Amino acid sequence: MISNNYSNRLFGRTRGKSKKKIDLKKYHQKVAKYQFQNCDEKINYILDIGTGYGETSIFLANQFLDKVIISCEKYIDGNIILLKNIEKNKIKNIRLYNGNAYDVLDKINRECFDLVWIFFPDPWPKNRHAKRRLVTSDFLIKIHKSLRMNSEIYIATDSTIYVRFILDSIYKCKDHFLWLNQSEMNLVIKDYFDIETKYYKKAINSQRIPSLFILRKL
Ligand SMILES: C[S@@+](CC[C@H](N)C(=O)[O-])C[C@H]1O[C@@H](n2cnc3c(N)ncnc32)[C@H](O)[C@@H]1O
Repeated sequence: MISNNYSNRLFGRTRGKSKKKIDLKKYHQKVAKYQFQNCDEKINYILDIGTGYGETSIFLANQFLDKVIISCEKYIDGNIILLKNIEKNKIKNIRLYNGNAYDVLDKINRECFDLVWIFFPDPWPKNRHAKRRLVTSDFLIKIHKSLRMNSEIYIATDSTIYVRFILDSIYKCKDHFLWLNQSEMNLVIKDYFDIETKYYKKAINSQRIPSLFILRKL
């Protein structure tokens, strides 16, 4: 039986394989310009966790012009692409958190998110790596504390192993969330959003149909 306890350590890469030289000083200066500091009571926020190349954050920023998107990602190469796209498209409502999603949640001591997105979290399919999975019941309960009443979490994955793990996690915190789309046989993302991230395309090209879980805070 795999434990559903969380590990708040960071796993996986923070730099790409290409070994392309990055001017880290310049990078951190740019991050500082868009850095998420803390929640302002007057602003409505969306937390986008593990944004990869930032596609979901750009999508959410365009979709919700009245909200600020906090794009949380530890992967520097991905954040560089996101920063380029923010500037190219003159996007005003994205703040970046270059680091661990656990830390950003720890920084927030009140209910400030209207929505949390977790798109294609790393599945860590091997049993011995299961503790590295981000979406556990503990993690969902941690998010619960920073969600406004009736706000929602959207989780997408194309991994059958992770689907089972997420189902178990949802069951373990059933007093905290209502699983909104549990009665639908079809949990296909495209029924809800017109967005194709790198990992969505990877799934489709490999003939894996991604699933979407929608949880509402109780
Ligand atoms: C499989 S990628 C998905 C990227 C993107 N959401 C998409 O749909 O294309 C998962 C991302 O989550 C990031 N990640 C994993 N654990 C994280 C954590 N604890 N905090 C922030 N980002 C994390 C990884 O760096 C990686 O870029």
